Amino acid sequence: MPIIELKDVRKSFRTPQGLPVAAVDGISLAVERGETLGIIGESGSGKSTLGRLILRLIEADSGTILLEGEDIRALSKAQLRNRRRRWQIVFQEPFASLNPRLTIRQIVEEPLIVAKTYGSKAERLRRVIDTLKEVGLSPDFLNRRPANLSGGQQQRVGIARCLVTDPTLVVLDEPTSSLDLTIRASVLQMLARLQLARRLTYVFVSHDIETVRHFCSHVAVMHRGRFVETGTTDDVLSRPQQPYTQALMAAAMPPIPYVPEEREALA
Ligand SMILES: Nc1ncnc2c1ncn2[C@@H]1O[C@H](COP(=O)(O)OP(=O)(O)OP(=O)(O)O)[C@@H](O)[C@H]1O
Ligand SMILES: [Mg+2]
Repeated sequence: MPIIELKDVRKSFRTPQGLPVAAVDGISLAVERGETLGIIGESGSGKSTLGRLILRLIEADSGTILLEGEDIRALSKAQLRNRRRRWQIVFQEPFASLNPRLTIRQIVEEPLIVAKTYGSKAERLRRVIDTLKEVGLSPDFLNRRPANLSGGQQQRVGIARCLVTDPTLVVLDEPTSSLDLTIRASVLQMLARLQLARRLTYVFVSHDIETVRHFCSHVAVMHRGRFVETGTTDDVLSRPQQPYTQALMAAAMPPIPYVPEEREALA
């Protein structure tokens, strides 16, 4: 059974002028446990809308969305709240998604309190400390607040908050695009390590084709709310069949290769 299965899912918005925009226009997909589906496409192609529809953070207009076999569009609000801990999301802007008034301990503990099934205060604290450790943060961070952390550390807290309830599925919407290149690489390595250790299923929304090539087992290329090409990463990115995919890849090629060694030699 796939962890995620979508059949003909649609969502449209209206522009301020009242014109309909088909942000997601008949998407079907299936993601098996432990896989990472990368979603690439130009700005405005519908990637984030699709990621939010998968978790029912926004309501679809039509279609079927099955998570672990459950029709999430049919769940009640209470049922959905109960499932949330298994189906999580990490956003692009870590600082904006963390409550600045809370300590790191409170931020990571909150989902455990909401879920009500994670025992005593002491057990919760143990779980918070263990999860912080998994994302590379020591207990020294427990009483600090988001504003005192670097961007990379903030994103690690965001990831800890989503892992603390033991999810099966995580949507990552450009999780590293606000980070410096070196930090980006280490956060991605951490996400890959966590995925293996926990058999997580990821949906990874990204502009960055090279990141997707390294990080994703499968790729879907999105254009104006539709998938124009899907398949294994190797098939889609090494042997793209569709002109749109080829154009997207050509546009993404850096005009001047980045050669850090040379710079160092000059310095
Ligand atoms: N809440 C909303 N209200 C109105 N229109 C919206 C809303 N959310 C998205 N849209 C529109 O839907 C389309 C798809 O937007 P979406 O944010 O999903 O694209 P994206 O691929 O994630 O883009 P980016 O790469 O810039 O993040 C765009 O035309 C956008 O303007
Ligand atoms: Mg987006």
